[in-house]
Amino acid sequence: MEEKKKKHKPINRKLLRRFMKGTWGYFIIAAIALIAAVLSAYIIPIITSFTIDYVLIPYAEEGYKAGDSGVPGFIINWIDSIGGREFLIKHLYIMGIALLLFTAVNAMSTFLRRSYIAYAGESMARNMRNDLYEHLANLPFDYHKHVSTGDLVQRCTSDVDTVRRFIQNQLLEIARTVLMVVCAAVIMLRMNPMLTLWSVIMMPFLALSSFVYFKAVKDSFSDADEAEGKLSAALQENLTGVRVVRAFGQQKRELDNFTEKNADFRKKNLRVNNLMAYYWSASDAFGYMQIMLALCVGVYYAIKGWISVGELLVFTSYTAMLTWPVRQLGRILADLGKASVSLGRIDEIISAPLETEPGKALTPPITGDIEFRHVGFRYEDSVDPVLDDVSFTVKHGQTIAILGSTGSGKTSLVQLIQRLYTATEGEILLDGVNINDYERHYLRRNIGIVLQEPFLYSRTIMENIRIVDPDAPEEKVYEAARIASIHDVVKAFENGYDTVVGERGVTLSGGQKQRVAIARMLMQEAPIIILDDSMSAVDTETDAAIREALSGRRQNCTTFIISHRITTLSTADKILVLEHGRLVQQGTHEELIKVDGLYKRIADIQNMLEGELGSEGGEA
Ligand code: CTP
Ligand code: MG
Repeated sequence: MEEKKKKHKPINRKLLRRFMKGTWGYFIIAAIALIAAVLSAYIIPIITSFTIDYVLIPYAEEGYKAGDSGVPGFIINWIDSIGGREFLIKHLYIMGIALLLFTAVNAMSTFLRRSYIAYAGESMARNMRNDLYEHLANLPFDYHKHVSTGDLVQRCTSDVDTVRRFIQNQLLEIARTVLMVVCAAVIMLRMNPMLTLWSVIMMPFLALSSFVYFKAVKDSFSDADEAEGKLSAALQENLTGVRVVRAFGQQKRELDNFTEKNADFRKKNLRVNNLMAYYWSASDAFGYMQIMLALCVGVYYAIKGWISVGELLVFTSYTAMLTWPVRQLGRILADLGKASVSLGRIDEIISAPLETEPGKALTPPITGDIEFRHVGFRYEDSVDPVLDDVSFTVKHGQTIAILGSTGSGKTSLVQLIQRLYTATEGEILLDGVNINDYERHYLRRNIGIVLQEPFLYSRTIMENIRIVDPDAPEEKVYEAARIASIHDVVKAFENGYDTVVGERGVTLSGGQKQRVAIARMLMQEAPIIILDDSMSAVDTETDAAIREALSGRRQNCTTFIISHRITTLSTADKILVLEHGRLVQQGTHEELIKVDGLYKRIADIQNMLEGELGSEGGEA
């Protein structure tokens, strides 16, 4: 059903106009250049034929009446006034200069048409990409759950490109064809209506067969596109998952898979190329048949004296000039179809609703008192609630730790505070105000979060840490890095803070990444800090050192720490224990250690392990 809807979606004109903003000037110049190019192209054969009819033949043959070969009367009168035929015979170079002049006009205007339509297309593509990017950046967090990143990338790149190519290569081509047909018709009809008919008699068939053909082979084109998509998806997956492929020894299988897709792509592409070879050669033959017909009938007319030799030249030239645009009309239509599908795919992103501001968009100073009142939450498409009736309070400056088995809803809970998702039941209060009433960017700026799987940009460590405030003094960066216990590590790198992270540079270890992410979060100086299992890859001692260093700052901050380490949890002012989205226990370490429950069980296990490790260490 989705497919059908896509196909029949009409072109969204409003969207097109929006993308064309600021490009109208380019389009207008390109259109003017197009008209100049077509007119000059049509004048060139007329100059030649005029030279034959008016100058050469009357000169060679006694009694031959000079013809005008379609040259307007006022020009003939003017030539007669400056000495007519005799003058031109003496100064034959004038005809050569006229030819050169119009060829130059044609070349210039063709150049202008191409470069200005290129400006128009590129500017439109830029507008499209910017609009898409801006829209994507402001879509709700949930949006990305429904669409694959690869698909989005494709829409922002190849779909934009399909539309751009259509604008640059085809849009003016339609106008050009229409203009050419009209110009040719006017000039030819003036010379000889009957011969005009003979000269274009096969054109409608040529156009029709072009439409029919391109409609028939449309599926082959989309098959090839699809095969290409599959091939690049396979390549992308392999490159991003390179570690998994190697680690599990899957190279052979992946290679086979790739080879198969590659062969399929070759086959389908070959088919398209073959189909095109048939078409262009057949239509070439068809086109030459039309020219031949015009020539034969034209010669007959010339012998009969119904047209001049020069006019015969005009007819055959025009017939040849018309066949090319006419036989690619079908292709333009096919490309129009493709471009409109691409535009539809772009439209789908642009028309997805943006993140809304349901409340009053307040921006008061934030202290950091937080209260959850019977908060319930479920993800859009999940059946069971992820959080159920969660209530607790935190005073500013307090540290609150969250413990729970995997999938119990810890990450979901802290993401609700940032309003990445909205609670479906109950309410969350920050300083006594419902968080929905805060302006969302303001709210997020005031909550520093270190995600469970931190993402670092492929930039230098300095740039990564300074991301929220690129102008922050280096001292401040060092300070944050010291608290996160990463300063000395970075200093030891050959390029220090200028070390590039990720694809283009060094690969940081899991723990190093987490610590860079902590330093980055500290730069925000937010009154609320969330550490989502952010020290899981850091050893216990460093964990303690970071917490120690943080505690200086924590006094003014409300801190949420998600962790599985009792040593980390035990220092918190309050510990929340989640089980299947329900808050089953809350209290301090001393309180929870006394009652049976998840907290005590985990504490016992970890103490036992610690003891064993300790005694082992002692023996060694
Ligand atoms: N979930 C979901 N959609 C998401 C994220 C999570 O449906 N976008 C579901 C998960 O499948 C899980 C539940 O929500 O059943 C809770 O997820 P989460 O809050 O991420 O669990 P955590 O407690 O953070 O688990 P972990 O310790 O593994 O991080
Ligand atoms: Mg989690």
